[in-house]
Amino acid sequence: MSPRDRILALRNEKGVILPSLLMCDFGNLEREIRALEEAGVKALHLDVMDGVFVPNLTYGLPIVEAIRRLTDLPIDVHLMIQNPNQYLAAFVDTGADCITFHVEAEPESGPLLEQLQKSQVASGLVINPQTPVAAVEPFLPLCDLLLVMSVNAGFGGQAFQPVALDKLRDLRLKSSSDLILEVDGGVNLDTVASCVQAGGQWLVVGSAIFKHQDYKSAIQELQQTAFGDST
Ligand code: DX5
Ligand code: ZN
Repeated sequence: MSPRDRILALRNEKGVILPSLLMCDFGNLEREIRALEEAGVKALHLDVMDGVFVPNLTYGLPIVEAIRRLTDLPIDVHLMIQNPNQYLAAFVDTGADCITFHVEAEPESGPLLEQLQKSQVASGLVINPQTPVAAVEPFLPLCDLLLVMSVNAGFGGQAFQPVALDKLRDLRLKSSSDLILEVDGGVNLDTVASCVQAGGQWLVVGSAIFKHQDYKSAIQELQQTAFGDST
């Protein structure tokens, strides 16, 4: 199965909560991954920031490669970098299953999305809260997934911006039912249900998982609140 097929298989899931590893204990990465696997997560979300496109610097290729070696879970890489073109092939080589980059960093996104498709990696665009849906609309047929930011990209722990809900509803109307809609930023017990009601299928969660000792119960509670079950 190609990386892209692993991602497309998740389309049939009722809903997917993806932990964002931004706030995990990087000194104990293997232990953190095992805890998430045991909590039943279906994919991991990795936030790559370059300190230029966003005013924060996280991690890059070696950490994505290391996480690839540690787990078979599908890996969703969210690139918050300037000039994604420069690093796209290298991120494909890490073994990531899905790669998204910001339309604000590459307004002419078509060729990069096609490059990802040719590499058999799932591809998608990301839009920040102030960017209109019109910026991604021409590229929707080339995307497997569209990531709607509900905070300004750059930091975990920010407050959810409801404008994301309008965008999810708008995107659901304008896109094929095959397009996966992902939401990222400030998703927690107070906001997760409204994300699902607006059409969000993949829910990225950072602080609302990692501030808890027990990831499994945090994820189950989110699952219950979002989808009415704990599967
Ligand atoms: C923000 C990142 C998010 C973030 C989510 O730029 O893309 O993935 O870490 O963290 P919370 O859930 O704390 O907003
Ligand atoms: Zn993210």
